[in-house]
Amino acid sequence: MKHFLKETDFTRQQVSEVFALARELKAQRGRKTSQVLAQQTWAMIFSKSSTRTRVSFEVGIHELGGNPLFLNKNDIQLGRGETIEDTAKVLSRFVHGLVVRTYEHSELERLAAAGSVPVINALTDFLHPCQIYTDAFTAAERWAGAGGDLLASLQGRKIAFLGDTACNMANSWILGANHFGMKISLSGPEGYAPGAEIDALLSQEGFAGGYHFTHDPFEAVKDADIVYTDVWVSMGKEEESKERIRLMAPYSVTGKVFAAAKPDALFMHCLPAHEGEEVTQEVLDHPRCVIFDEAENRLHVQKAIVATLVARS
Ligand code: CP
Repeated sequence: MKHFLKETDFTRQQVSEVFALARELKAQRGRKTSQVLAQQTWAMIFSKSSTRTRVSFEVGIHELGGNPLFLNKNDIQLGRGETIEDTAKVLSRFVHGLVVRTYEHSELERLAAAGSVPVINALTDFLHPCQIYTDAFTAAERWAGAGGDLLASLQGRKIAFLGDTACNMANSWILGANHFGMKISLSGPEGYAPGAEIDALLSQEGFAGGYHFTHDPFEAVKDADIVYTDVWVSMGKEEESKERIRLMAPYSVTGKVFAAAKPDALFMHCLPAHEGEEVTQEVLDHPRCVIFDEAENRLHVQKAIVATLVARS
């Protein structure tokens, strides 16, 4: 059974195919040309809030001819203590695939191991691969030009990630950048450097030491093609809010910081954004801020991910 739990679950050849299919699906927007999920139901188990991920998957599964079944964790027995393994086995008898947003990455892995249908990671505390594929595609659309090789256009490009450099988005970009042939530099406060878990995964995937970390945000953004940030207080970290905002304030993406990247650099953010914290309004209003293209592309890229998984299963 093939799953999409982390960035490297598709080979580079498959990444290339996912990007090419996403471009095709985007061009066909509104037309139900690909019906790879006809007669299929995909369950979406969400333990955390979501706007982009939930809506883009529901619309995407529908556009591929399938039926999306949204399951809030607290509305099913999983929220009352039924085991992950039993849940996976039962749902596998009813549905053709699972899209899962949860806290512990190990819960996702257990679900995938126990079930018998494909599982897609819709965000865990460790990784958010659907977002990273979408972000990379969004940059590649600009760099490859019409008909150009999307994955090849990422080769050697540099991304600078500022702020909470120990969060799931930072982890995912570290793994994704290495897989896509990009360079990554991260900048955040003391105590928020990328952790042992992502270092271990990088080693396992053959990318040991594949990132640069600095406390100086200007050093990180130098020669960057993409400046990226995420909220400083991720879901589940609300109690640390005050301290995080104090520590991360020097890592806000201001106009001055963004201007220190390459002259044609893109500003990216997975959203939702907290204006005045991790990014200023000036940067959000900048012509090279592509946040809403990223949001839209969630739909096209995830449809391509689902279609590719179905073809492989
Ligand atoms: N970027 C992202 O995953 O957005 P949601 O939390 O709204 O799904």
